[in-house]
Amino acid sequence: MKEAIYDRISVRTYVKKPLLKMETEALQKLIDEMKNLTGPFGHKVRYFVDHQQKNLDDEAKRIGTYGFIKNAPSFVGAVVKNEFTGMIDFGYLFEHFILLLTKRGYGTCWLAGTFDRSAFDHYVNEGEVIPAITPMGIPEDHMSLRERAIRLAIKANRRKSFEEMFFISDIKHPLTEGKKHPIEDALKLVQLAPSASNKQPWRMIVDEQNVHVYLERTPNYGTGKSFVMQALDIGIAMKHFEVGLQSLNIHYHLIQKPYQAPSTFEYIITYQLDMK
Ligand SMILES: Cc1cc2nc3c(=O)[nH]c(=O)nc-3n(C[C@H](O)[C@H](O)[C@H](O)COP(=O)(O)O)c2cc1C
Repeated sequence: MKEAIYDRISVRTYVKKPLLKMETEALQKLIDEMKNLTGPFGHKVRYFVDHQQKNLDDEAKRIGTYGFIKNAPSFVGAVVKNEFTGMIDFGYLFEHFILLLTKRGYGTCWLAGTFDRSAFDHYVNEGEVIPAITPMGIPEDHMSLRERAIRLAIKANRRKSFEEMFFISDIKHPLTEGKKHPIEDALKLVQLAPSASNKQPWRMIVDEQNVHVYLERTPNYGTGKSFVMQALDIGIAMKHFEVGLQSLNIHYHLIQKPYQAPSTFEYIITYQLDMK
């Protein structure tokens, strides 16, 4: 999974070719395995797949990807209970799924803003929501001009520095990259995580063997949505952090242990690391 994290990039331009029968069957098998998993806050998600049959462009228009996504042969989405921790779990589980697709050579792109939710209303029950979907298919060798323009506009290749996101004991003591902190490799994977509009709203304070996770919401961002978009980013960051801890062979427990932080930091959860 660590390699998949390094390989993953949002793909918005695909080879214009439907998935083969063999591929759709393999996808279904993957989903059957995924559907039993629960997120850190106990939610499950319900997946759905939309394979494009006729003209790929027409279908993309129906889903309302507004020309952002080109030639995708299939879309996968999922439904979850519409609550704050449900969004965290969705981010965690759906990123796991995205990394598995990446490992298999497929391109993906988290879409939470640029699609029309009403195209999928029939999958949703009362109190539920589809926070995001992803196109999937073979990435085209060259990005379209439009895709390059999007990446430039949201500075998609840039990430916040360690010092802006990670701290030791309190925010007066930023954790610096390259100083060989024992969990540096895991934090690196958090830094590489995708986030809505590349805002990277996760923060972590390391206090001895505890790593406290926070959300620092971007002011006035995503306010028109019926769910907390940036909670998805927290779930994604947690998935990446856990892949990192596992690759470092560090065992951990998830606990609730709120810890001092600035008022703009919303406490989420604590990783208690088993480090002797
Ligand atoms: C929760 C979430 C929602 C996103 N929504 C959209 C979207 O609606 N449209 C889009 O083109 N990209 C969307 N993205 C992709 C981000 O813009 C992208 O992950 C970020 O710019 C970093 O680029 P990278 O994924 O190539 O590393 C979303 C990403 C996340 C995590």
